Amino acid sequence: MDRGFQKKGSSLDIRNYLNHQKERVDKALDLLFREEAGRAYGRLAEGIRYSLLAGGKRIRPVLALATIEALGVPSDPLVPLVLPLELIHTYSLVHDDLPAMDNDDLRRGRPTNHVVYGEAAAILAGDALLTHAFTLLSDPVYDNILPVSRRLPVIHELSVASGIAGMVGGQFLDIVSEGKSLTLPELEDLHSHKTGALLRVSVRIGAILAGAGEKELRGLTRYGEAIGIAFQIADDLLDVEATAEEMGKATGKDAGKHKNTYPGLVGVEKARALAEEKRREAHEAVALLGDKGEPLREIASYIIERRN
Ligand code: IPE
Ligand code: IPE
Ligand code: MG
Ligand code: MG
Ligand code: MG
Repeated sequence: MDRGFQKKGSSLDIRNYLNHQKERVDKALDLLFREEAGRAYGRLAEGIRYSLLAGGKRIRPVLALATIEALGVPSDPLVPLVLPLELIHTYSLVHDDLPAMDNDDLRRGRPTNHVVYGEAAAILAGDALLTHAFTLLSDPVYDNILPVSRRLPVIHELSVASGIAGMVGGQFLDIVSEGKSLTLPELEDLHSHKTGALLRVSVRIGAILAGAGEKELRGLTRYGEAIGIAFQIADDLLDVEATAEEMGKATGKDAGKHKNTYPGLVGVEKARALAEEKRREAHEAVALLGDKGEPLREIASYIIERRN
């Protein structure tokens, strides 16, 4: 990977770094669901590409790449194996926006999938994105990059983090808790499932693909847990403080929907302080990586300081 994103001197320009990594991911994502577009179910493929290529931040695959590189392993050949994180994330957004869930009509700066393609096609687009994540990871074409025995733990971890013990379970908790007031530990549990699980596993997948040792994996997992919670605290704060133009999605909606959020439960100031605490935890957890861990530390800071 080139170092064009680095500032002169030692400190990293995180914006350039993230753009550079996002471009690598975007390029690889753009190769997906092309062939399917010419089939009888081409309209479904079109809907999938509509949501997938709508310009998300790609923070999950970028975290995996940053982790691989922090462990000193070349990431280029592994790019296809981190795309499943974005496929599952995009599916979660398409379903999150459905009328039966958050009922939103703006996402990634565009009308939501169900608004354009209809609810049935949006549900199926989500189903296909989820399934395709595991098609990619189990595809024998990648045998020469990494033997299937090394990909199996990735498949297992990703399925657990996406399913009932992870994102899906968290989304359920989010919906059934609307209108109820959770305690702070209950809210942390909710956030660690609905958003934390996929961020944590992004880091762990990077570590597993790079062949991390146990000590590194432990530190990176702690890092992933901390940024996972911080990410949703920031999302909750941005719902209060940012505009729809900045976010590419409606803001100011959580309170009206009686969602359980950090600013809703403890106030904006305390929520910010908790995010700051998570940043410190994250930085500490990857101290063992030395200079190579700088992008991960900067990503943790970016997550709580971001404006979109
Ligand atoms: C939004 O995720 C949903 C949450 C988990 C909070 P992102 O903020 O990563 O959305 P994109 O991928 O950049 O659109
Ligand atoms: C959704 O959280 C997390 C997912 C698993 C998709 P939100 O409902 O707060 O996400 P946004 O604000 O709609 O992006
Ligand atoms: Mg939601
Ligand atoms: Mg939502
Ligand atoms: Mg939100």
